[in-house]
Amino acid sequence: MGGIKGLKNKEVLITGGLGFIGSNLAIALVRLGARVTIIDNMLPRQGGNLFNIKDIADKVKVNFSDVRNELSMNHLVKGKDYIFHLAGQVNHVDSMRNPIQDLDINCKGTLVLLEALRRHNTGARVIFAGTRGEYGSSVKLPVDEDHPTNPKGIYAVTNLTAEKMVLVYDDVHKIRGACLRITNTYGPRHQMMHDEYGVFNWFIRKAMDNEAIPVFGDGRILRDFLYVEDLVECMLMVATTDSAYGKVFNVGTGVPVSFYDLAKTIVRITGTGKAKFTEFTQERKEVEPGDYYADISHIKKVVKWGPKISLDEGIRKTVAYYRKYKKEYW
Ligand SMILES: NC(=O)c1ccc[n+]([C@@H]2O[C@H](COP(=O)([O-])OP(=O)(O)OC[C@H]3O[C@@H](n4cnc5c(N)ncnc54)[C@H](O)[C@@H]3O)[C@@H](O)[C@H]2O)c1
Repeated sequence: MGGIKGLKNKEVLITGGLGFIGSNLAIALVRLGARVTIIDNMLPRQGGNLFNIKDIADKVKVNFSDVRNELSMNHLVKGKDYIFHLAGQVNHVDSMRNPIQDLDINCKGTLVLLEALRRHNTGARVIFAGTRGEYGSSVKLPVDEDHPTNPKGIYAVTNLTAEKMVLVYDDVHKIRGACLRITNTYGPRHQMMHDEYGVFNWFIRKAMDNEAIPVFGDGRILRDFLYVEDLVECMLMVATTDSAYGKVFNVGTGVPVSFYDLAKTIVRITGTGKAKFTEFTQERKEVEPGDYYADISHIKKVVKWGPKISLDEGIRKTVAYYRKYKKEYW
């Protein structure tokens, strides 16, 4: 990561920067010498946690505000070189229970940010963290960026819409924007309070507590699991690659792993817990898209990025982090 050039002394805004991905990104940016500002509203039941940034607390500015707040955003975008837009309603189940909130945060929030840029800083560059969920059920595997987009839940619909907004502002208003469709990501600093999103980390918690790991159905559904350090490196490389703007990229490993194999690997590494097959809940079933793994040749070609951390290594690092800081997350 140290090899990434061009971020020293840059002004960077991370929306949702107290959450899982945002805090890992903030730590990497501070190490690279960037000047980081975070905006986060600590949305209940999501990943916002001040402990996530404890090592860099005196080196970043934190603004407890909402991306939907025009006054805040008009002020915060001024003078920024890069905006990593990660603030979002991320809970798939909640997006169906409370779709209006999901729409409001993920779509209106994105539009308020883009309008603030149009009025106050057209020179900033935006990196948008969208989801592989935008594709919905896979009609061919691996999934490339030309695959049809038929989202299964409202969270994925609002992410796809927000992505299109970023691309329209790139095209019409020349506010440079790059969009990522990110696969299931795991690692240190993810919330561990409940299993409604981030099932990988939930499996780790269950194993560490020596409890049954609930594997839905027959456990054979395939996913593409990415370690957060790889994602952070990817986001920084996208930000500093001129030709990445105006484009959409899959971000994943391209390696399919079944939920059952994942549970077994976690049990082998932690030495505790055990996989247990469980029926899908109705709510889960409704938003479950089935098998997914990414074709990452586009990002490899344009950005020259590829994942480096194996599943075993990523699990080991994640378990080590939570063994040390369990009380901050359980
Ligand atoms: N984690 C993944 O596997 C994954 C995969 C694909 C895409 N993403 C996207 O990446 C982004 C970050 O996800 P994460 O996993 O770090 O989740 P997270 O819950 O850990 O972080 C999201 C942060 O956004 C904040 N937030 C929510 N609404 C806000 C608002 N209106 N104003 C300001 N802050 C707000 C929350 O308080 C939280 O700190 C999300 O947009 C998510 O959709 C994540």
